[in-house]
Amino acid sequence: MKIKKPELIITAAREKQYPKEGVPEIALAGRSNVGKSSLINTLVNRKNLARTSGKPGKTQTINFYNIDDKFRFVDLPGYGYAKVSLKEREKWGEMIETYLTKRKSLVEVILLLDIRHKPGEHDAVMYNWIKSFGYNGIVIATKCDKLSKNKRQKQISVIQRELEIENKNLIIPFSATKKINKDKVLDLVDEIIEINK
Ligand code: GTP
Ligand code: MG
Repeated sequence: MKIKKPELIITAAREKQYPKEGVPEIALAGRSNVGKSSLINTLVNRKNLARTSGKPGKTQTINFYNIDDKFRFVDLPGYGYAKVSLKEREKWGEMIETYLTKRKSLVEVILLLDIRHKPGEHDAVMYNWIKSFGYNGIVIATKCDKLSKNKRQKQISVIQRELEIENKNLIIPFSATKKINKDKVLDLVDEIIEINK
């Protein structure tokens, strides 16, 4: 699949602002700074369509992207960012929960994890939630350019064990900077959209 015309539809803080239902949506969830916005930019071949930052907490709204009028990517705010106030964190948590529980057009939630780190408590909660709602449980292990191939495999085993993932093939090492496995993720996205047409 080649993406030709990606565009931001809206940055939404409240449910009322979500675009109309009816187009399949693939949401990206994960800790703050894990690389959700960078993944979108890589997949759609744009440097700055989704705003990224070296500092955690960049995406603070739910951002909907129209992908060639076929489907949408939904960039969620990151969780687990300790440097914002509890109130702020609660607000983001609520925003994420509202979207995930109420959205009828949501066809898949992909969890992003930094390949270098053992999944944390929030990651486990999110992954279990994703599985319990019947999604496939695809994990993208980001920033794999930072590890040797050997080390990548080791970390994938750690992720598999920690999150009790039945099949290693569900964990895809990925690099936005080096575009590692870009086509693989795009094929997977294509498959998900075809199935949910
Ligand atoms: P929030 O919006 O805060 O939730 O973060 P995010 O998950 O959207 O992360 P973002 O895409 O903004 O990336 C965070 C930082 O990680 C940025 O400095 C990126 O350049 C860097 N980064 C993202 N992906 C990769 C990658 O594949 N490799 C490397 N080396 N750095 C990456
Ligand atoms: Mg972001």
